[in-house]
Amino acid sequence: MTSRTRTAPAPAHESGDLPVSRPDASTVLADPEWWRTAVIYQIYPRSFADANGDGMGDLAGVTARLGALQELGIDAIWLSPFYTSPQKDAGYDVADYCDVDPLFGTLTDFDAMVEAAHARGIRVIVDIVPNHSSDAHPWFQAALTAAPGSAERGRYLFRDGRGTAGELPPNNWASFFGGPAWTRIVEPDGTPGQWYLHLFDSSQPDFDWTNEEVHDEFRRILRFWLDRGVDGFRVDVASSLVKAEGLPDYHPGDDDEMPPYEGRAAVHDIFRDWRRLLDEYPGERILAAEAWIKPLARRADWVRHDEMHQAFNDVLNFWDASALRASIDGALTAFGSVGAPTAWVASNHDGIRTVTTLMFTPAERAGGVGPRTTGIPSYDQSIPRARAMAMLMLALPGSAYLYQGEELGLPEATDIPDAARQDPTFFRTEGEQYGRDGCRVPIPWESEAPSYGFGTTDASWLPQPEIWGRLARDRQQADPDSTLNLYRAAIALRRERGLDAGELEWLPGYAADVLAFTNADVTVLINTGAEPVPLPAGEVLLTSTPHDFTALTALTTLAPDTAVWIHA
Ligand code: GLC
Repeated sequence: MTSRTRTAPAPAHESGDLPVSRPDASTVLADPEWWRTAVIYQIYPRSFADANGDGMGDLAGVTARLGALQELGIDAIWLSPFYTSPQKDAGYDVADYCDVDPLFGTLTDFDAMVEAAHARGIRVIVDIVPNHSSDAHPWFQAALTAAPGSAERGRYLFRDGRGTAGELPPNNWASFFGGPAWTRIVEPDGTPGQWYLHLFDSSQPDFDWTNEEVHDEFRRILRFWLDRGVDGFRVDVASSLVKAEGLPDYHPGDDDEMPPYEGRAAVHDIFRDWRRLLDEYPGERILAAEAWIKPLARRADWVRHDEMHQAFNDVLNFWDASALRASIDGALTAFGSVGAPTAWVASNHDGIRTVTTLMFTPAERAGGVGPRTTGIPSYDQSIPRARAMAMLMLALPGSAYLYQGEELGLPEATDIPDAARQDPTFFRTEGEQYGRDGCRVPIPWESEAPSYGFGTTDASWLPQPEIWGRLARDRQQADPDSTLNLYRAAIALRRERGLDAGELEWLPGYAADVLAFTNADVTVLINTGAEPVPLPAGEVLLTSTPHDFTALTALTTLAPDTAVWIHA
């Protein structure tokens, strides 16, 4: 039997306010290459923490809870939109890019949050939504009352319809949320009029990026937030700003592998321009692209040296060793070829939560997982894979994104009744797709408190499942075996051992359903198969299974659905 030693991670301190063993804030914030290896925590402001008890998270809530994030060991937070918005797409429909929606607080609350985050050595990234605005944006309102061909209409993509009386949409594009990507307006004189393009909801009209005024406006918006001290931007739908000239019909399978609303060459000029603007500011401010285009080699164009710093890789949201290996190799090769780091993602506010998603094949979960899904495994059956996935993602070189609640091992909320649903996807597909509400439920902080400590009252904009009591942060902080403490230990070890800046090398000799590699001085094994796998010699640093730590000395095999880090 191989002899093993291990140090159990100390349980996190309950107050969440103790200093952790990291360099002080000014040293942390001075690192110019921070984004190459950063662990970035996505805050979905609606659901993170509610300081005023109205059932909707807010910026003051974020400030109050930063201690818990510092304790987790993350380097930066990325906040989904908190700007003035009618909230038709949970804030991704922006009416005023330079103000905070009263739902979330004020600009003063924002400044206080940035200051408090920086004091803790945590950087702040905000979301920017340049593909479309809200239909409540003053520009769009002005366009509706202006004439066809006017400067006001020219900021968006208004077109005459096809058909004898303009009764058909200008082209065949579909909205990502279901239904057509065009809506016809009624002209100010009461007659049926032009159509406008919206790749998402009809409340999200697309800007016309061939219009210089749009460029100027976004330069102004970037400067507004940079001047307030933000460390970067996550760029929403960064692949679609520019559309093919003439807005031609889309025929999938045509020679061009991209749809006419994705990956146009001119989109890169926009981001080169933004990069130059960011580089005028002190400290390394970053751009991170949401650009889900394929192949990855093409996606790497977004992170060439004079463009963005990061682009999200494929989401690691399937439990299939060969596919994961291919996805990891693909990302390392593509991004490595342009000298960019990889930016790993296991979950975000648009997908099914990891705990649940890994129990289904992509085909099985295509319409989402909800009340009508049969055969949803229990929580205890589901959590092992998610814990192993955390150890896979955090063992990979590059930057890693965590989505709030992932560190608590929250499952998808699968029992949200139709009447409580909010996501436009649910409505635009007439319920065929559950949409994204199940991953957006306000997260639990205290097991015994109203709304599980999300706010000061029972109010919660989406209903919280009962299991939140068991998974609340306060319970997990005190339990060395908790998912929270697993993340905390993995994040600390990843930095300590240099996995974040290391190099991955696959190990030969393992079965196809085992992921086995070395990175720095650590051997990483993930067993996605059904049989236990013998462990190589070495000191076990971390395993994904909850256990009695003393038993680790006797660990000789790796159980199915688990992961281990070994000091080789
Ligand atoms: C991005 C966001 C998503 C939003 C969409 C439209 O994909 O992540 O939440 O609905 O863009 O802005």
